[in-house]
Amino acid sequence: MASKVKRIGVLTSGGDAPGMNAAIRAVVRTAFHLDIECVGIRRGYHGLITGDMYPVTSEEVNGITCLGGTILYTARSPEFMTPEGLKRAADNCKFMGIDGLVTIGGDGTFRGALELSRLGVPVVCIPGTIDNDIACTSYTIGFDTACNTAIEMTDKLHDTMQSHERCSVVEVMGHKAGHLALFVGIAAGATAILVPEKEINFEEDVNEKIRVARLRGRTHFMIIVSEGAASANDVAARISAETGIVTRVTILGHVQRGGTPLVRDRVTASRMGYSAVAILAEGRTNRVVCFREDKYIDMDIEEALTMQKGLDEDIYLILEALTSGA
Ligand code: F6P
Repeated sequence: MASKVKRIGVLTSGGDAPGMNAAIRAVVRTAFHLDIECVGIRRGYHGLITGDMYPVTSEEVNGITCLGGTILYTARSPEFMTPEGLKRAADNCKFMGIDGLVTIGGDGTFRGALELSRLGVPVVCIPGTIDNDIACTSYTIGFDTACNTAIEMTDKLHDTMQSHERCSVVEVMGHKAGHLALFVGIAAGATAILVPEKEINFEEDVNEKIRVARLRGRTHFMIIVSEGAASANDVAARISAETGIVTRVTILGHVQRGGTPLVRDRVTASRMGYSAVAILAEGRTNRVVCFREDKYIDMDIEEALTMQKGLDEDIYLILEALTSGA
């Protein structure tokens, strides 16, 4: 039976993440396959308010899976946070005949989608953020590529730190979560990793680890600092003052958000894009597409937003073992 849904919209919102384009392509192509028209909304919720949207053809998404960034642009829209902005966005959806909206982004994007759903706009969210900080899903689009970009940088830093017998303090993104720092730190073989989820005891968590490693013959060190845990500049200043080791700071910054998406992000994005359209075509709404226990499932947005995501405690235990004397 043909779907009652005739036209859907797709937007990307918040910080971009590698793989968002693959998700857009999957939404557009799946819609085309199901005989549903797809409208691309530029600059996230801002475009919904200003009516900045256009019909996207299947051809227009040719060859975009390999591109970082988002062809639809993205934005953080303060206006959308106001009741007037929200109403205008919902009214524009109705005026444009959009009977389903796919929003790709992080938890801020999900909160916006929830508000729109309360005004009668049927929505499905796809998790896309390099932070991997969305509780309802074990994986968010962009995380793997961001980790790999960071690792490429820390590997390069490792070489020069080894030659000069220095300590590299690297600040990675992650907002208020330490998932990125933890993965990068483990993969880089860091001496210490600081994450916002764990209270920092500088003497124990940093200085002591450096001293033990030094006693075991190590002459260069790598400290990974999550941006939500501390400032890399402060950490480096303390290390050099308290241990006498020469430190250098690298703040990786937005480089972590760019680049060619890796296979995991392209495939996850493609699957989630497909699922989002399938959900709308089935007449279901207010859902988040999630990856949990090796399966793609969906869940109510409100329920998803009440969940809390902690750090993977097993990984943290492994980390404790691996960094004692590294
Ligand atoms: O949420 C993705 C993210 O890159 C965070 O890791 C970081 O804290 C934030 O966005 C930076 O945002 P902006 O691009 O607005 O500076």
